[in-house]
Amino acid sequence: MATHYAAFPGMEDILPGDSEKWQWLEEKTRSFFASRAFREIRTPILEPTELFTRSIGETTDIVHKEMYTFKDRGERSMTMRPEMTASVARAVIQHGLLKTNKDLSLYYTGPMFRAERPQAGRKRQFHQIGAELINVTREGEPYRADWVIIKALADFLDYLKVKNVKFRLNDLTLINGDQGDSIRAKLRDYFEGHKAKLDPDSVFRLDKNVLRIFDSKIPETRAVIKDVPWDTIAPFSAAFSDFVSRLKALPGNITFEVDRTLVRGLDYYTGVVFEAASSSLGAQDALAGGGRYDRLYEELGSNTTPCTGFSIGMERLLMVLGKNEPSIEQQLGAKKIYFVPLMTQVMEFDAVRDTALRLQEWGFNTLLPAETGNLSMGEHLKRASKLGASFAVIRGDDEVKKGGWTLKNLTTRDQFFAGSENELLSMLMLKTEELKLS
Ligand code: HAM
Repeated sequence: MATHYAAFPGMEDILPGDSEKWQWLEEKTRSFFASRAFREIRTPILEPTELFTRSIGETTDIVHKEMYTFKDRGERSMTMRPEMTASVARAVIQHGLLKTNKDLSLYYTGPMFRAERPQAGRKRQFHQIGAELINVTREGEPYRADWVIIKALADFLDYLKVKNVKFRLNDLTLINGDQGDSIRAKLRDYFEGHKAKLDPDSVFRLDKNVLRIFDSKIPETRAVIKDVPWDTIAPFSAAFSDFVSRLKALPGNITFEVDRTLVRGLDYYTGVVFEAASSSLGAQDALAGGGRYDRLYEELGSNTTPCTGFSIGMERLLMVLGKNEPSIEQQLGAKKIYFVPLMTQVMEFDAVRDTALRLQEWGFNTLLPAETGNLSMGEHLKRASKLGASFAVIRGDDEVKKGGWTLKNLTTRDQFFAGSENELLSMLMLKTEELKLS
């Protein structure tokens, strides 16, 4: 009997039809971050296990339950990266990037791996877009990088036209500062007093790492978490209140609320942490998360390096974008150009291919029949509309003679003549832009 193989649960194929949407998002990502002078970093998928246990923390769900870890043939313990902030730090330290740069603004995209229970928007192989500000500081403005990164995330989501974005944020500075031990002791006392209502994982965390209790999703535990008397345990600092007012005053109207229960499921955070959600995603799942991690570089054997960053889940982002108007398909359609090669001289076909390639390089998605074939103009145009193209570019004997191209808007049926390839390119740029705005 034939064996039928299937991908592992939670690890999905991205098939033609969807892959174009991923390419669209990747291109938007590159354009946005390049325009902000962020540079791309790519790191290996496999890293030493200890990199993640040290940075994310032994008692976190990610390290404790979700990592894909195995020994290679040389008996080294390897882990498939569950996130990339630790990998980026490892790479920056390993290559001494901070010796030649005072600070770094880096971004990345790529697959991450967590053995979570698969469901909509929760995969075992998923993808992130991330950005990290490394050693970006300014005298007298300790929270500057925090609002710079939150603003960058808000602007990126806005650029993609994601609607109804809401941020939650919290400050973990105090709990990680000089008074940290006493704050943790007070939190332990509080939870100890409500131990009967805590789930078993949280009871275990009570002694090991009290902040991790906040990761619990069990309703009874959440009720206890909600009532933590923060104002007596660790009231917000004046610096944080100042930061909140500044965030409110930023252009672009970032919608946010301060949420003291937000601690984020990774141990490396030391200051302002945040999550962004879109109401089109459903209640509980975050679209993006991030925060400040000023001690990670030290933890990994380097100097103290103030950092903050965020990561966005690409599957979730595409789910949200799927509900947008105009949809990604519509936006992609505007850039789809169908070539109609009708000339009798087969030799002329190479020139059409060259022009198609040039348009492709300028960001158009060109659809070119494999050969001139013998379809009529009408059949070609029908095909072009079926493929969702916005324009047809016609090259028949007449156009060859004049050295030009006929451009046809497939919706309005308007036709234009471009006397040269350059003219064709500029016409298409203007007309497809108009189409996106209409
Ligand atoms: P995180 O909150 O663990 O943060 O993940 C960021 C985003 O990745 C989430 O908001 C979610 O959209 C997506 N995500 C996480 N797990 C899954 C999953 N199993 N399936 C689908 N999407 C998922 C980090 O990873 C940090 N590295 C963020 C950061 C960067 N902090 C500082 N710099």
